[in-house]
Amino acid sequence: MTELTVVVLAAGGGTRMKSKTPKVLHEVAGRSMVGHVLAVVRALEPTRVVTVVGHQRQLVEPHVSDVLPEGVVAVQEEQLGTAHAVRIAVEAAGDLSGTVLVAYGDTPLLRSDTLRLLLDDHEARGNAVTILSGIVANPFGYGRIVRGSGGAVEAIVEEKDATDEQRAIAEINSGILAFDAAFLDEALGKIGNDNAKGEYYLTDAVALARAAGLAVGARPVDDPMEIEGANDRAQLATLGRELNRRIVTHWMREGVTVIDPATTWIDADAELAADVTLLPGVQLLGATKVDEDAVVGPDSTLKDCEIGAGAHVVRTHAELAVIGAGATVGPFSYLRPGTVLGADGKIGGFVETKNARIGAGAKVPHLSYVGDAEIGEGANIGAGTIFANFDGVAKHRTTVGKHAKTGSNNTFVAPATIGDGASTGGGTVVRGDIPAGALGVSAGPLRIIEGWAQRRRAGTAQAAAAEAAAEAAAEAAAEAASAGTADEHEASHESDPGVGDSPVGGRD
Ligand code: UD1
Ligand code: CA
Repeated sequence: MTELTVVVLAAGGGTRMKSKTPKVLHEVAGRSMVGHVLAVVRALEPTRVVTVVGHQRQLVEPHVSDVLPEGVVAVQEEQLGTAHAVRIAVEAAGDLSGTVLVAYGDTPLLRSDTLRLLLDDHEARGNAVTILSGIVANPFGYGRIVRGSGGAVEAIVEEKDATDEQRAIAEINSGILAFDAAFLDEALGKIGNDNAKGEYYLTDAVALARAAGLAVGARPVDDPMEIEGANDRAQLATLGRELNRRIVTHWMREGVTVIDPATTWIDADAELAADVTLLPGVQLLGATKVDEDAVVGPDSTLKDCEIGAGAHVVRTHAELAVIGAGATVGPFSYLRPGTVLGADGKIGGFVETKNARIGAGAKVPHLSYVGDAEIGEGANIGAGTIFANFDGVAKHRTTVGKHAKTGSNNTFVAPATIGDGASTGGGTVVRGDIPAGALGVSAGPLRIIEGWAQRRRAGTAQAAAAEAAAEAAAEAAAEAASAGTADEHEASHESDPGVGDSPVGGRD
């Protein structure tokens, strides 16, 4: 095996991004641009990778070390040109042999197959330099590949140093170059900065190789987008959309149904099984995994989530959540980190969850907040229930047992435990524990205070409506009395605590 050293240049400023974030850290498809390049490079299984950082290296260096811990980071204090940057990388790497591949940190569409072909060609031909070139419609700004009459590559000439005739050349230097390590070492010692930009041009190595009678090759890339760098936000969006198109196409070829590829966004690290269906307006971000037969969408954003087989997730925003096989979520629900919904469970409409384990077959169907909770399998949480997990200082947990059935509009003031098979009445505020099988009711009976609106809201439309109703009732009563069928008006009312046959007169 020939040694392979990859040098990734990421020291430039990226001023056209107009950003406090360094250019190579801008993201597409859920990864930084340099993260994409490093992933592609890693797939080549190189002997070593040296990333050259400079501008805002306090941000770039930790990111690069995080993405590729086994890589080396070299610092270029001043950006004196691509040859200068590569020299610093070579010095950091020590004695090199075999092949040195130079790439840039801002080409997110680059593929490892393309680099593999370049390296194979380079090594098979025994070239001193092999250029990954591109035939482009608008070569402005790029170095041009100058070929001799026989077609052999003679030199790369930079835009600013080119003659009018050379500027007309459509074959450009991508900047991705494969070098024989020994030749590169020699060339780096000879390259000067006597040119229009006053920089050390790595591209001068090509003319040096030719002058030494060494072979130089150039392979045009099939798809010029692969070598395109994002220099501003408009280019970033264009490349991001294209990368997304490729990722979505890939998953469709793997058996995923995508109803509307144009509104479906899938990050590079997401994984989908065959027979998943994505409805319009879905974003699968980060390391989200979706298992077979699951249906996601429309209009759902899932970040770092796991969606089980056959689950349905409708109009949902979820992050770091696990949704079990056959479970249903949404519409309009918000699953925050630590949500784990068991198989065949349900999180219905307008429900927010956080740090909540909801057991198999358990249901939180409507309008609820479930925070810091454990809900047993088969339990049913009534509509409009709040798990009050925060006492103003600390968070506490609530446990709801298996097959418990809690009433509507409950508040569970944590820490609270509701036992297996327990129930609560409507409007119950649970402060403490309800034993297994018990019914807990805290809502008092309905109290009627007659004439309250007229006394306490005098002069308002509410009071007027109450007064009119009272007068009409008095008139009706008088008529009934004169008809000789006087009856007694019931002054107190009992209320149902909200569970079925209301066995308990819950008073507090
Ligand atoms: C370079 C090439 C040009 C090619 C083009 C492709 C040279 C002299 N020219 O031109 O032939 O067509 O890329 O995009 O190589 N960098 C450093 N340190 C430096 C200078 C640059 O790390 O001192 C990095 C930059 O961050 C960038 C890359 O190298 O990622 C290219 O540098 P840039 O200055 O953009 O070169 P171009 O003028 O575009
Ligand atoms: Ca450039």
